[in-house]
Amino acid sequence: MTLARWPAWLFAALAAVIVTALLTVPGVGHAAPALLSQGHSAASSSAENATFPASSAVDGDSGTRWSSQAADPQWLAVDLGGPHSLSQVVLNWEAAYAKAFQIQVSTDNVNWTNLTPVTAGNVGVQTLSVSGTGRYVRMYGTQRATQWGYSLWEFQVYGDDTAAACNATVNSALNQPVLASSTQDAGAFPASSAVDGNPGTRWSSVAADPQWIRVDLGSVRQVCGVELDWEAAFASSFQIQVSTDGNSWSNLTQPMAGLAGNQTLTVNGSGRYVRMNGAQRATQWGYSLWEFIIHTVGAPPTTTTTTQPPQGDCPWVKSTAPVAQRVDQLMAAMTNAQKVVVLHGNGATGPYIGNTDPIPALCVPAMGLQDGPAGVGDSLDGVTELPDPTALAATWDVNAAKQYGTVMGQEFAGKGANVVLGPTINIVRDPRWGRDFETYSEDPYHAGQTAVGAVQGIQGQGVMAQVKHAAAYNVEGGASRGTPSDNVIIDDRTLHEIYLPAFQTVLTQGQAASVMCAYNQINGTPACQDSAVMNTALKQATGWDGFIGSDWGSATGGAPQLANGGLDMEMPGGAFFGQALIDAVNQGKVSQSTLDDMTRRVLTQMFKFGLFDHGATGNTGAVVTSAAHTQVAQDVAAQGSVLLKNNGVLPLSASSLKSIALLGGDAIDPQNIGGGSAKVNPSPAAVNPINGITKRAGSGVSVQWVAGAGEHVQTPDIPAAVALAQKSDVAVVFASYGESETDDLSSIDLQFSQNDLISAVAAANPRTIVVLNTGSAVTMPWLNNVAGVIEGWYPGQENGDAIASLLFGDVNPSGKLPVTFPRSMADMPTAGAQQFPGANDRIEYSEGMNVGYRWYDARNITPLFPFGFGLSYTTFGFSGLTVSAQANGSATVRATVTNTGSKAGAEVPQLYIGQPAANGEPPHQLKGYQKITLTPGQSQVVTFTVTPRDLAHWNGSAWTTNTGSYGVFVGDSSRNLPLTGTIAVTAGS
Ligand code: BGC
Repeated sequence: MTLARWPAWLFAALAAVIVTALLTVPGVGHAAPALLSQGHSAASSSAENATFPASSAVDGDSGTRWSSQAADPQWLAVDLGGPHSLSQVVLNWEAAYAKAFQIQVSTDNVNWTNLTPVTAGNVGVQTLSVSGTGRYVRMYGTQRATQWGYSLWEFQVYGDDTAAACNATVNSALNQPVLASSTQDAGAFPASSAVDGNPGTRWSSVAADPQWIRVDLGSVRQVCGVELDWEAAFASSFQIQVSTDGNSWSNLTQPMAGLAGNQTLTVNGSGRYVRMNGAQRATQWGYSLWEFIIHTVGAPPTTTTTTQPPQGDCPWVKSTAPVAQRVDQLMAAMTNAQKVVVLHGNGATGPYIGNTDPIPALCVPAMGLQDGPAGVGDSLDGVTELPDPTALAATWDVNAAKQYGTVMGQEFAGKGANVVLGPTINIVRDPRWGRDFETYSEDPYHAGQTAVGAVQGIQGQGVMAQVKHAAAYNVEGGASRGTPSDNVIIDDRTLHEIYLPAFQTVLTQGQAASVMCAYNQINGTPACQDSAVMNTALKQATGWDGFIGSDWGSATGGAPQLANGGLDMEMPGGAFFGQALIDAVNQGKVSQSTLDDMTRRVLTQMFKFGLFDHGATGNTGAVVTSAAHTQVAQDVAAQGSVLLKNNGVLPLSASSLKSIALLGGDAIDPQNIGGGSAKVNPSPAAVNPINGITKRAGSGVSVQWVAGAGEHVQTPDIPAAVALAQKSDVAVVFASYGESETDDLSSIDLQFSQNDLISAVAAANPRTIVVLNTGSAVTMPWLNNVAGVIEGWYPGQENGDAIASLLFGDVNPSGKLPVTFPRSMADMPTAGAQQFPGANDRIEYSEGMNVGYRWYDARNITPLFPFGFGLSYTTFGFSGLTVSAQANGSATVRATVTNTGSKAGAEVPQLYIGQPAANGEPPHQLKGYQKITLTPGQSQVVTFTVTPRDLAHWNGSAWTTNTGSYGVFVGDSSRNLPLTGTIAVTAGS
């Protein structure tokens, strides 16, 4: 600092007040290296037993040794008592040496820097040259050479025997990344001017208290001196502070007054970040520094992990620059310790079920993640309990999915959450899975399209969707969930053709921000470590730029396995993606570019979804339900209900009926939603079937109820139900099968005597209608004896009004089954215990691609009700198929659908493709559908676009379309396909 360059008036002022604190550390010596470690205190990650303590490796006695437990990693550290310049480390290994280890140094015993690359040990003495400064030195072993632990007779550290000197002639802050709380005049006085070595340029803040300027030294260093060259606008109260992560700060000085001029301070502390934290200005102007100089012990930093210093007050905030540029800007200012903050949860369960911490120094906001797929879950109130996602899928209507998603997006935003933990898009492989209700379909195309609608709805409201759970998670398995027994054995073709496509579709077509990986293993690899699924299939194959988060506690193993496997964010805590991830990067086990890619993915979505542009969008106490939302809940419940049988009893006519018997515990206490993380509280209160039907039937109809049987019925009384049914014009029996996360069902037969109730009521009244509230398929031993059946799934809080609207024909049923209903469990593709729930640490997906209708078609088994099936109060006809195809398989398929009945209604024409037998595919597979509404007599031509990919199969490494004749089938279910045609394909054309 040359005083002569200062203005004269300042020079005079300065002379009077200059304060210089002397640096008293002796200078660096150049004597022969001295043994620094002997007799100093040592610590280790473990000891084999009390006979082999860490201290034995630094006691100078090569007959005693430290020996660790037989596990990786392990470390032995010695405290040199103060910082020293280091030159050599000598390891005297016992027979149990390290196959891979590094020598590391630290100034604070927390943050470690590598002094060597990953090195192999050897039995006996090993001498390594090192260069660095620090107080703590350790051997960090990552791989043992033997089945025993790590064992050292002696661990010797050599270097300068005088404590390393404070390097008072070198400015460690020079040109380092620097940030300030603000800059005056839109950046005319940037923070970087205080570390540019030019005393003629300065940083100047806005005129407000408090303000700070912070320098990143690039690595943790022992800070021993600070020089502040104040302009006239100095601080009347400030402190020098230090931090290892840029977040939490320790004071190196008491609050003190600045002065106009040069102020030199002796300090002592270690950290990577040093800041001047100003509490009070001395003038009416801001804070202004010509230079901010920092002295450290030992050599100045040579490398930094950050690049260009950002300027001013978090310039990436509210910037109009493209997202990628804003991410670059922010990442250039981030240390690895800061990067990992956005890569893991903070372990708290509030305000949301998952929470990341903010980084105030970089203006990075916190992020809140909340369940789940059927609306705002995790016990929050004031929200809409939507019908379950199976009901949504049963609408076969992408627009309904968008509406449902929009309601979710609005309610999550209103609660201030940033990420919806949903939708669940796993394939329904078996009707006994405890989470079938919260997912969509047994078909990957149908699941994918429904998911695209829902995700677009959610994300259209500025909330991220985290689709879950990648990719083959289709059984709870009781206590084995998340253990190595939870091991799905699946072939590669099935994984690619059945379980991955819905995920890939929702990433490419739906642009979902995030994916959750699952608890289970796939062929022995934990899903959250599965590079083939996460890196290859989800990221590389799609070019997607979102992030993958773990399920709650599904991150296992170690930071390298998870990060290298493709996981980007750990939830709910940071056991692996906190310090362990930083260590893994320092040890070369996770590359810096992998860490950067993970960070970039999370930040990209945070920028895209406006988290840097606006504050919280709401709070958990807000009431976010509304009349419009409950209307959507009712509409989806009605549109998703499937009329399975109707002998003419439906729709009911309030004018010609005198009495209705409602039976079953569910008429009053219905199964509106399943259990677990997808459970949602109704608000203000759910409408039960009794209330909904009584209101709709009107005063001219007597509506009476007797429970008879049901899950929550304390004293079953089937005869009482029969008696009521007998004397009523019509009987409606409500029956349910409750599902919940963590619990699979033991059967697909209705429980709690409900089948007996239905049979008895049907025998008493030929006009018996059964309303089922189940999450998936159940058997119906009474089917031939009842007059009507409606599958309503779990209809959400507007259940009563929705079912009344269907029973009385205000809404014409148009739902279609998203799952096959088998005649019995024995007919199912997954009937064997080895297949579901699995045995001996294996869940065999031996049915391969023959999931759902594919199985029943391949085996020629007649289901009770096929996939895609659903009746209406009108009828539809299919005609006029045309196929215009190119040799590569691209085709346009057209068909005419006519409402041949007497009521307006909606139909879902479905397109299936059958591949040539040689391709070894299931007989036919859904590749298109549309929901259209027609008035009586009206016809509409529907158009399907077929792509070569729709005709392709996975050949082990890519999608291939073979030469051959491909069947085209159009109809109203997987088992009723009256229109047929072909597409002739020539491979390679
Ligand atoms: C479930 C996830 C859910 C998470 C947070 C887990 O047990 O599998 O689907 O999002 O908990 O509640």
